[in-house]
Amino acid sequence: MSKTREYFENNGQGHVFTFFDELTEPEQENLLKQASDIDLEELSGLVSSLVQNTGSKNDSIADSLEPAEFTPLPNSDGGNPSLWIEAREKGEAALRAGRVAAFTVAGGQGTRLGYDGPKGTFGVTPVLKKSLFQVFAEKILASSRIFGRPVPWFILTSVINHDQTVAFFKENDFFGLPEDRVHFFSQGLMPAVDADGKILMSNKGQIALSPDGHGGSLRALVRSGAVRQMEADGIDTISYFQVDNPLVRCIDPAFIGFHLMNDSELSSKMVPKAYPEEKVGVFCQQNGQALVVEYSDLPERLAQERDDSGEIKFRAGSIAIHIFDRNFVDRLGSGRDESAKLPFHLAHKKVPFIDESGSIHEPTEPNAYKFEMFVFDALPFAANPVIIETSRANDFSPVKNATGVDSVETSSADQLRQFARWAKEAGIALETDDTGLPPVTFEVSPLFGDTPGRFISSWNALEHKPELTDGLVLV
Ligand code: UD1
Repeated sequence: MSKTREYFENNGQGHVFTFFDELTEPEQENLLKQASDIDLEELSGLVSSLVQNTGSKNDSIADSLEPAEFTPLPNSDGGNPSLWIEAREKGEAALRAGRVAAFTVAGGQGTRLGYDGPKGTFGVTPVLKKSLFQVFAEKILASSRIFGRPVPWFILTSVINHDQTVAFFKENDFFGLPEDRVHFFSQGLMPAVDADGKILMSNKGQIALSPDGHGGSLRALVRSGAVRQMEADGIDTISYFQVDNPLVRCIDPAFIGFHLMNDSELSSKMVPKAYPEEKVGVFCQQNGQALVVEYSDLPERLAQERDDSGEIKFRAGSIAIHIFDRNFVDRLGSGRDESAKLPFHLAHKKVPFIDESGSIHEPTEPNAYKFEMFVFDALPFAANPVIIETSRANDFSPVKNATGVDSVETSSADQLRQFARWAKEAGIALETDDTGLPPVTFEVSPLFGDTPGRFISSWNALEHKPELTDGLVLV
């Protein structure tokens, strides 16, 4: 018997190999490979601390929580315009020095969207329905051109979508980016277990595995060699964003500047929550440390609480936009700092599985536990964390659902509102409704303009200024 099988037998998971002898040789090899990547001590610790622990976590979380402090926008209450100018200049200098990489987490399963394919390949812009990946690629390319240094782009995938993601970039010639500056790497996997902590099998030769959460991106950055490569290339600043948000400023000089000015290991953007139930994590402070409390963990009482001025007290919504210091990623992702480990969170999900007789079951109720790490759990371990305010209209309109809130319709309309604001700032006569939506659907490529300033200069430079009509695309 192989060492791996023995290890599984000795740890109460021998059933994983029940059908081993029926498998072909490649299937056997594959199963052994899957199994050998699983740390059974870690798994059994998670089962006893998370699956079999019935205590309520929420009450203890609430005890000493305070809202986090943040740097307001220049035009917000308490904002300091000259500080923002200083930050932007610092960030621009770092970009000109080639110190910054972009990093997208795109390893998720995207189940809510109901789209069969990597989420980044989903079309989101108002006219051309350009994919999320193309929107980011053009923003990154624009930034590279403006600051005269290519911004490398690291993309986290998972086994579910890695090959399709890479193929999509190849088919589209990397959207004009130099191919050797786009790096794909896959995140780790965790097995799903039943209520007794037994690993589930999706068929006779496959363990039911799923991605280890975007928190797994930190160890994937280390394991894949990306961190080492960044070091060799002189990159110390990593601009992190999720694949679902086409409005994100992939490379934001002021944000980078605030991060560097404060010698921060991890910086974050916040938007004031739109309403108490909004499904975003909240930046808080507890025992002198910053942290994000996920919406599902924030007790209702705190979510609804108002401060003296009537505003939502815990209002600093996390929109999953961060800047990481490369050495910090290395410290957490390598696991060499025993005191700085991301915890796992539990998700109760429906996972198809085979029973001991080999029959397949398609559960209609959650039957399985999955384990995921969240990247924002790195915050309490970071020195000098910085949180800055950003405007939702210019940074956040995610595509998460097929319809309704945070869907392609809402996000596409928000992109159009942004184009309309820029057009008006450029002096173009354009009527908009009271939500800022124009009557015509047009589109602006980030390569034409990715800020109001750059839109205005590109517009002014046009010899023949087109009329803003339905279907117009400014490139
Ligand atoms: C997430 C945040 C929430 C934040 C909101 C903002 C979590 C748990 N919550 O919610 O605090 O306010 O976004 O939009 O993240 N991903 C991976 N690998 C994985 C899992 C996810 O790369 O194993 C990526 C996805 O591809 C996606 C992102 O992480 O880009 C977010 O994942 P998702 O599960 O959709 O988070 P939300 O519940 O939307």
